[in-house]
Amino acid sequence: MAFRTGISRRMMIRSGFGLRSMSSWWGSVEPAAKDPILGVTEAFLADPSPDKVNVGVGAYRDDNGKPVVLECVREAERRIAGKLNMEYLPMGGSVNMVEETLKLAYGENSEFIKDKRIAAVQALSGTGACRLFADFQKRFRPDSQIYIPVPTWANHHNIWRDAQVPQRTFHYYHPETKGLDFASLMDDVKNAPNGSFFLLHACAHNPTGVDPSEEQWKEISYQFKVKGHFAFFDMAYQGFASGDPERDAKSIKIFLEDGHLIGIAQSYAKNMGLYGQRVGCLSLLCEDEKQAVAVKSQLQQIARPMYSNPPVQGALIVSTILGDPELKKLWLKEVKVMADRIIGMRTALRENLEKLGSPLSWEHITNQIGMFCYSGLTPEQVDRMTNEFHIYMTRNGRISMAGITTGNVSYLANAIHEVSKSA
Ligand SMILES: Cc1ncc(COP(=O)(O)O)c(C=O)c1O
Repeated sequence: MAFRTGISRRMMIRSGFGLRSMSSWWGSVEPAAKDPILGVTEAFLADPSPDKVNVGVGAYRDDNGKPVVLECVREAERRIAGKLNMEYLPMGGSVNMVEETLKLAYGENSEFIKDKRIAAVQALSGTGACRLFADFQKRFRPDSQIYIPVPTWANHHNIWRDAQVPQRTFHYYHPETKGLDFASLMDDVKNAPNGSFFLLHACAHNPTGVDPSEEQWKEISYQFKVKGHFAFFDMAYQGFASGDPERDAKSIKIFLEDGHLIGIAQSYAKNMGLYGQRVGCLSLLCEDEKQAVAVKSQLQQIARPMYSNPPVQGALIVSTILGDPELKKLWLKEVKVMADRIIGMRTALRENLEKLGSPLSWEHITNQIGMFCYSGLTPEQVDRMTNEFHIYMTRNGRISMAGITTGNVSYLANAIHEVSKSA
């Protein structure tokens, strides 16, 4: 065109010809809505108050409010240092890591592992495992939906939305009892079309901290069997709830004993403190080895154009720890220390509130389990917590117990007492 009209290339550039179209490539892009959890951290960091407290983020802190690297992780790092080559892992990730991870979920001596009936791949932590499953569900059961509890970890909605799997919800939390709405949950399970997909939190439900009892899990499993539903367990907190990984996998054990073919997303973010390493696992229990081989190959095929293969460092840390009896013992001890600190903070928060003479019941703080307490504070009360007391949390009233320390628990209790006085 430049030659035809006699305008030289240089003149075209000088006159800014074409710039309009270039600058408008992304002109229609609006800023994305802020992630509710990450937005809390931003606001916390920007607050100059010396009193500020962040109980928004689900990451463990020690009693001085500092991030923790487990000693077993440090030791594994020392053992690995200098020995790791930087080759790609296979598409399905580290075989050793996956094997050890399956033992944690399905049991040390699981017949399913021995019979090679589990299709499993390393995933980009729990989020990546959920997303990989959601994509797999869409590809091989394109007409299915996913039933998600109300409430749930907000990212579950994003994950299944982006995988284009339609979402339905089921009752879970009862705002008045601040516990499980078991009757409504069971009604929803019964009323869902036969063969529906359900997302279940294996333990330490996020954000409510409310888990079904063992008896209730048995009833849920039974009803799933009657209806032929598929249970997909998101297990982001194994060990973190009770301090004992085996105990926290009880729900899974019950489903396995009842003969369900389940799926599990596992993560080492919380229970090994490997948040940024992005190491986890997706597994699907299949009818036999042949089916497991086929399913695994398809999971790998979904991973290939997205990220090709998963990162190596975190997987090696995990397999080094779990593959060594001494290091594994140390890990189990350290998980328990984290869980116990959180359980201790639940008691301390409740006691402080009761000492202040709060007429409300705070029993739910100690009844709930895991990283979070669903306090029951309203969005307006949370706003007051932030504006008047510099305490940062999500507007759904979720408190990350890991952010509470012996140093700030009475300040936090006092703020909760003040904002909830008129309730
Ligand atoms: C319920 C639940 N699932 C999955 C995850 C995923 O965490 P990650 O991707 O860091 O393993 C989280 C993290 O907060 C969670 O709470």
